[in-house]
Amino acid sequence: MKTALFPGSFDPVTNGHIDVIQRACLLFDKIIVTVAINSDKHTLFDIEERKELLSEVCKDIPKVKVASFEGLLIDAMKTFKTVAVIRGLRAISDFEYEFQMAMMNRTLCQDCETVFLMPAPEYSFLSSRMIKEIAMFNGDISHFVPPVVAKALKGKNLGTNLC
Ligand code: PNS
Repeated sequence: MKTALFPGSFDPVTNGHIDVIQRACLLFDKIIVTVAINSDKHTLFDIEERKELLSEVCKDIPKVKVASFEGLLIDAMKTFKTVAVIRGLRAISDFEYEFQMAMMNRTLCQDCETVFLMPAPEYSFLSSRMIKEIAMFNGDISHFVPPVVAKALKGKNLGTNLC
């Protein structure tokens, strides 16, 4: 039984994240999608909201379990007994940060393997940050996030809350 950890801020989850989750499901027996708790980072959705949205959009993907973690990723890997970390790579611009993180994690824990998955081209330019900006100006985000996320974004006062 091979379990992988897919960590992230997921503020909020996008179709790009879901695409990566579905690809990871083809490679692993179980995927723990873990929302990072980081009190230094201001997020639009709180931890419970981000977990609820993820649970809702992944409810028909049996291999997925949604959780949260605080602290180091390598410790979350031990807690959830995972063999790899999944990260999405959208463009070359993602590579430097992701490379540093993967190498740092492997240095901290030699068993920490990172698997990079590329989302479908239509999601290769998508980011949660951009989605929030488009939503703030009442733009159409329906192609980029599931309906439940679009509804949750409408319920937020984005004018004062964008992060
Ligand atoms: O969706 P994000 O914001 O790109 O996710 C980043 C995340 C949460 C995966 C990353 O910040 C992280 O792993 N944080 C945990 C702290 C940690 O382990 N830091 C050392 C590795 S560089």
